Amino acid sequence: MLNNQIINWYSKNKRDLPWRKTKDPYLIWISEIMLQQTRVATAIDYYNRFIERFPTLSCLAKAKEQEVLNLWQGLGYYSRARNLHYAAKTVQQEYDGVFPATYKEIIQLKGIGTYTAAAISSFAFNLPHAVLDGNVFRVLSRLFGIETPIDTTIGKKLFQKLANETLADASPEIYNQAIIEFGALQCTPKSPDCENCPLLANCYAYSNQMIEILPKKSKQIRLKDRYFYYLFLYCPDRFAIEKREGKDIWQNMYQYPLIESATPLKNEQLIESRKWKNYLNDCNAVIKFQSKPIIHKLSHQNIHACFLHIEINKNFSSKNKNVFFIKNEDMDKYPFPKLIENHLSRLK
Ligand code: ADE
Repeated sequence: MLNNQIINWYSKNKRDLPWRKTKDPYLIWISEIMLQQTRVATAIDYYNRFIERFPTLSCLAKAKEQEVLNLWQGLGYYSRARNLHYAAKTVQQEYDGVFPATYKEIIQLKGIGTYTAAAISSFAFNLPHAVLDGNVFRVLSRLFGIETPIDTTIGKKLFQKLANETLADASPEIYNQAIIEFGALQCTPKSPDCENCPLLANCYAYSNQMIEILPKKSKQIRLKDRYFYYLFLYCPDRFAIEKREGKDIWQNMYQYPLIESATPLKNEQLIESRKWKNYLNDCNAVIKFQSKPIIHKLSHQNIHACFLHIEINKNFSSKNKNVFFIKNEDMDKYPFPKLIENHLSRLK
């Protein structure tokens, strides 16, 4: 049986990971949300710090969103943290703080989709729900030679059915961990280790030279370019920040005053802009330093960021009411996106 071979491989090759030592659905949930867009090596430190600060769901439910975002700082995809916090409050209120134990209830929680619901149901409660993530798509599409694009409704249905059939009567908990690990370590996206693969004899893609082209996707993601000009307004002991509002990236996190454009801007254009004048009260600001453009890649966009250092008088206050000044030593109290965090640490 296929699932036996994968489980057998797993028993010999599995990594010792902290979230594999617990059956607590709360801890498993945290780990699975972190792991969605983050490499295992990075997730381990964040996971340990997060559960040290919030060891139980009630602790998380009681926290301020800003503190949750602070612990998430640097991981990216911050809506994951906001949803986690929101869902913790839901469980606290609606289930008296006890994590629900059925797939149907789990999938109702904010930020939990089919993958995470299956992962929690199987890892915490050993319920027979097969996980389907990038690893599983890759393993199954190669093994069975399936060319149906994985980013289509038909593809998702087809692969989910196949995943359920492959799970069959194996232990859901072990089988799901095993196939994820198999995809992560053996059947990797680039240069998979086919020579040492226990499934080689049954692998359609290997026999038909299709490893490189499977799994297939229907769409190419179009990357959007955005040009961010950050005004780093500082005096010796403090600098200006504002909170990002609205539905865009980095919601509720902090940043320096920002002028955004869809095309690159020259300094003269920046200085003439309404936003510049609003931030700087029409005063004759002197740009003391200007960084080279830094390209910050997100999943669907490239941010071209430039930092303009402008020294201001200590009595300065901006016309823009969202802008406020913080002391240098208080910077750790505010959640910043990685782009700003990196700039701050270069300054230090
Ligand atoms: N990626 C997603 N879930 C995982 C898990 N439980 N272990 C390792 N990698 C993962």
